[in-house]
Amino acid sequence: MRSILVANPKGGAGKTTFAVNLAAGLASRGAKVALCDLDRQRSALQWLGLRSSSLPGISSVGGDGRGTGGREGSDGWMVVDSPAGLHGKNLAHAVKLAAGVLVPVQPSLFDMAATGEFLSSLMGTLGRKRRSIGIVGMRVDPRTRAAATLEAFLTQFELPVITYLRDTQMYPNAAFAGQSVFDAPEYIAAREIRQWEPVFRWMDDLD
Ligand SMILES: Nc1ncnc2c1ncn2[C@@H]1O[C@H](COP(=O)(O)OP(=O)(O)OP(=O)(O)O)[C@@H](O)[C@H]1O
Ligand SMILES: [Mg+2]
Repeated sequence: MRSILVANPKGGAGKTTFAVNLAAGLASRGAKVALCDLDRQRSALQWLGLRSSSLPGISSVGGDGRGTGGREGSDGWMVVDSPAGLHGKNLAHAVKLAAGVLVPVQPSLFDMAATGEFLSSLMGTLGRKRRSIGIVGMRVDPRTRAAATLEAFLTQFELPVITYLRDTQMYPNAAFAGQSVFDAPEYIAAREIRQWEPVFRWMDDLD
């Protein structure tokens, strides 16, 4: 299984929201998916516990790599949700195991400041593999000044904004039921699902 690490040391950046929707999105596309929760708060696993077995299946893998649910094998994706404040050896270890790292960032002064240092250290760890880092603008409309500010901030790192996910109650509402925007009726979630397309394309292009 190839793994995607979802990381940002800033609390509340949208890591868990992004991770569970990514897992559900991959599952809805027919991929084998496992969710690994490195956060002691276990938010992603809580979400998985609420998920109905009638929805596209996602198994869970512990931080020690041990699985439950029996769907993990050599193919498919493992989506790794990580805690706020992840740094040092633990971060380096998680990054080393990942085929790609996705970093949700909200376009606020405080979020960008906290994320900057992290991006620098991440790029140091990955060196030539920096192509495997992608930014996701979280809770932002791409046509706004906030999005432009985020892009201007990111030019110093030469990292791509893979997509923007807009601020909508659909994310928290779906989470209450162990669901994602991919589990909602298409006529309700079409706009959200379109915003996710570049993420899947980016993953398809990973080495
Ligand atoms: N696109 C979005 N639209 C609306 N609300 C969102 C969106 N993304 C995240 N949220 C909300 O923002 C809050 C923080 O999100 P989340 O818990 O995913 O962040 P986190 O980075 O995992 O936090 P922590 O660092 O505490 O683990 C949650 O209440 C979540 O519902
Ligand atoms: Mg979280």
